[in-house]
Amino acid sequence: MKPIAKKFRTVLLAATFAAGLSVPALAKDASVEVAIDTATTGPVIDKHIFGQFAEHLGTGIYGGVWVGKDSPIPNVRGIRTDVVTALKALKVPNVRWPGGCFADEYHWRDGIGPADKRRVQINTNWGGVPESNAFGTHEFMDFAEQIGSEAYISVNIGSGTAAEASAWIEYMTAEKDTTLAKERAANGHPAPWKVPILGLGNENWGCGGAMSADHYVEEMKRFANFTRNFNPAQREGAARMKRIAVGWDSDKLDYTEEVMKAWSTHVYSWDIEGVSLHKYTVGGGWPPVRPATGFGNDEYALMIADTLTMDTLLKKQKAIMDKYDPAKKLLIAVDEWGAWLAPTPGSNPGFLQQQNSMRDGVIAALNLNIFARHADRVKIANIAQMINVLQAMILTDGSKMVLTPTYHVFKMYVPFQDAQFAPVKFAAGEYTVGDRKLPRVDAMAAKDKGGQVWVSLVNVDPDAGTSVTIPGFRSASGEVLTAPKVDSVNTFAAPSVVAPKAISGKAAGGGVTIALPPRSVTVVKVSK
Ligand code: AHR
Repeated sequence: MKPIAKKFRTVLLAATFAAGLSVPALAKDASVEVAIDTATTGPVIDKHIFGQFAEHLGTGIYGGVWVGKDSPIPNVRGIRTDVVTALKALKVPNVRWPGGCFADEYHWRDGIGPADKRRVQINTNWGGVPESNAFGTHEFMDFAEQIGSEAYISVNIGSGTAAEASAWIEYMTAEKDTTLAKERAANGHPAPWKVPILGLGNENWGCGGAMSADHYVEEMKRFANFTRNFNPAQREGAARMKRIAVGWDSDKLDYTEEVMKAWSTHVYSWDIEGVSLHKYTVGGGWPPVRPATGFGNDEYALMIADTLTMDTLLKKQKAIMDKYDPAKKLLIAVDEWGAWLAPTPGSNPGFLQQQNSMRDGVIAALNLNIFARHADRVKIANIAQMINVLQAMILTDGSKMVLTPTYHVFKMYVPFQDAQFAPVKFAAGEYTVGDRKLPRVDAMAAKDKGGQVWVSLVNVDPDAGTSVTIPGFRSASGEVLTAPKVDSVNTFAAPSVVAPKAISGKAAGGGVTIALPPRSVTVVKVSK
């Protein structure tokens, strides 16, 4: 418990310094002033930080996305309609696929061609269950198109070859004249697909081949060399395919250091555009054991404190990158993040199924706010995972579907996609649970392309409401997400326990005041 308490204090101080103030504590019922600096031009909050991750894991794909063309569950070409409709509303910018650990065992040729001829294999990472390969490249690209998203493809470095990865990219992106483009057409898709983001392996220190950082760098360079995009329209400028090398996980940064060192002296034949960072909120210990429901304020605080360390990790990764890349040419892709909890009792532990509570909604908002504050480097992020796995947007069971609190936060945050970050100053205050102290309020603001200012306000305190005053603005309206308890969840039987409601502010003095309920996430547009 002692080291955790220390971490909490660091978090509080960090929030206070970010706010540019010197007095950390507020009285519990004090109003918080959030001053938005709209005159300063901050970096664009890249829409890709709202990306998703869909791995062949448990019922994330099979059941969650893919039900097959003959299913009684309504579908379009095998992809369930209810899920597509829900995801469209999130304006999902990219979906990372096919893994995760699965990516380093995936061979793309197993997932093309007639469904009845596809190789059935065992998903060794996740539950040891049969993997039919019924959902392959064509089905994934169809899914991405149906939800209006883009592809983030992770290639297999761990057990595949550079030739295999190169051929896959050619199959997906080449126009009509090559043998692989013709094979793609024969399989039903004459037009090339876009591959705007390419992952060069996944966690290659572990499930991706247990490679030392040095060894990974040599492999990564070879793969970066040969995984060129075969479509001229996807090679230049903003449309250039971004290759993401593996950085370290959580607090261990040797991969990032070695990748950046290699990149700083790279030769013409290879390049990368970004380095990844993975960080799961587990609340200490491995494997994750923290309950998804039935917890109180202690557990809540533990997870909030852990999630806030994302900021520290990003600062460390940025410091390494700045050393080799002061011009900030390379981006950070936080391409796995989210709460990883004990599996739902009775579920296959290899399926990583967990419920999603109001606490997850708060965790989602705090992380998105951190990414926005690091928008100069963080340009891609992928929450783990989209459906039925870890901190999911959507849970399904057969034909049933329910939207989680995390889904609602992502929907409320849509206005921040590609908006321009506007610095805010506020005193976070603190709330105390036992000997732990946490920031009470978090705030983030941005201006969208039409000039509208949007503000996110998180009242982290599980018990006390608070009010926020934003000077210089006279009106505020938007949505608030809160719930009866921090562990309130949505279920198939009761799908709207945690659902957004309308909220508005009142003009008072020289600003607008908004009353924030306890344990809540609020997104409002503010006007003068
Ligand atoms: O998201 C689940 C797993 O977590 C991924 O497959 C792996 O990359 C990470 O360890």
